[in-house]
Amino acid sequence: MINVAIIGATGYTAIESIQILLRHPQARLTYLTALPEECGRAADVFPVLRGRLDLAIEPVDWNTLPRVADVALCCLPHKVSMQFVPRLLSAGLKVVDFSADYRFHDVAVYERVYQVEHTDRANASRAVFGLPELFRERIPGASLVANPGCYPTAAALALAPLVRENLIDPTDIVVNAVSGASGAGRKAALAFHFPEMNENLFAYAVGSHRHLPEIEQIASDVAGTPVNVLFQPHVVSMDRGIFESIYCRPSREVAPQRLQELFQAAYASEPFVRVLAGPPRTKSVSYTNYCDIYPTVAKDRIVVFSAIDNLIKGAAGQAIQNLNLICGVPETAGLL
Ligand SMILES: NC(=O)c1ccc[n+]([C@@H]2O[C@H](COP(=O)([O-])OP(=O)(O)OC[C@H]3O[C@@H](n4cnc5c(N)ncnc54)[C@H](OP(=O)(O)O)[C@@H]3O)[C@@H](O)[C@H]2O)c1
Repeated sequence: MINVAIIGATGYTAIESIQILLRHPQARLTYLTALPEECGRAADVFPVLRGRLDLAIEPVDWNTLPRVADVALCCLPHKVSMQFVPRLLSAGLKVVDFSADYRFHDVAVYERVYQVEHTDRANASRAVFGLPELFRERIPGASLVANPGCYPTAAALALAPLVRENLIDPTDIVVNAVSGASGAGRKAALAFHFPEMNENLFAYAVGSHRHLPEIEQIASDVAGTPVNVLFQPHVVSMDRGIFESIYCRPSREVAPQRLQELFQAAYASEPFVRVLAGPPRTKSVSYTNYCDIYPTVAKDRIVVFSAIDNLIKGAAGQAIQNLNLICGVPETAGLL
């Protein structure tokens, strides 16, 4: 049995992680931690856990933690994570970090995008980027896995087969994305207050979203050449889900059927990527670890549609996929 601690156990990605682990055949929850003012019985913080989990959420005790847990899921915001991760690693735990703190090859890019000095450069340089479908071989046995962002997961899985085959101009890619409100986390914010959010749809972070350099980093790694993306996120009044329409300029003529074959072949052995014959829908991936993808041609562009649940394939589900790979248990355990 893998003993799992959750750090930041009162958030949205944490409750999804808890619920996946409750049905995981080879892992069990042993320790839940949060800030002192948020602590209590897990089932009181999240009523959905009533009768399912008899565990308290406690302030972190650094003596107890290494005795009861092998792996920590660090569900903290960026900037906070890098205060906890070095201590978790020093305590001998393996860590899957949900924040952006360990995702970048170049710490200078992180510092520019997140406007903060990185205080754990040594571990940042050792962290493994945990997008299993693209970088699986790096994950088993890793001590620290940086779980990818939600928008980048949906974009990278849609772009990878195209950039790998040199099928598109890597400098002319538009990622038009829509997310449900849970993407912003559980903390209160005016824009997500019910009367502001309900029946509403808006663009934000025009030309400057912090996931843009992450999308470019992954796509460039797969392409082996710099990839330049225009990324525009929107929020719509639904709880969960990400939908992306991705527009690319082909570098040579390609028929829709050829794209289907390319994507089918690329993901034939992937348990969590489904290549569809028509556009995906967010409801079809809700509460699942699937990424649904549909590639096609429209006028002079290749268009790829991609849908995930931001809290599962975009966060908790992918983290459990990474945990499974780190610990050498079946990658799909707890997730199908
Ligand atoms: N939401 C998504 O769709 C999504 C997708 C991919 C990745 N992520 C990433 O996953 C991480 C967690 O996101 P989330 O949506 O779960 O956020 P969230 O709902 O806001 O939860 C964040 C958790 O961190 C705790 N926390 C905040 N500041 C803290 C501090 N200074 N010290 C200790 N604990 C602190 C919060 O405690 P309180 O209850 O006291 O606030 C809460 O337990 C973030 O890095 C986020 O970027 C989120």
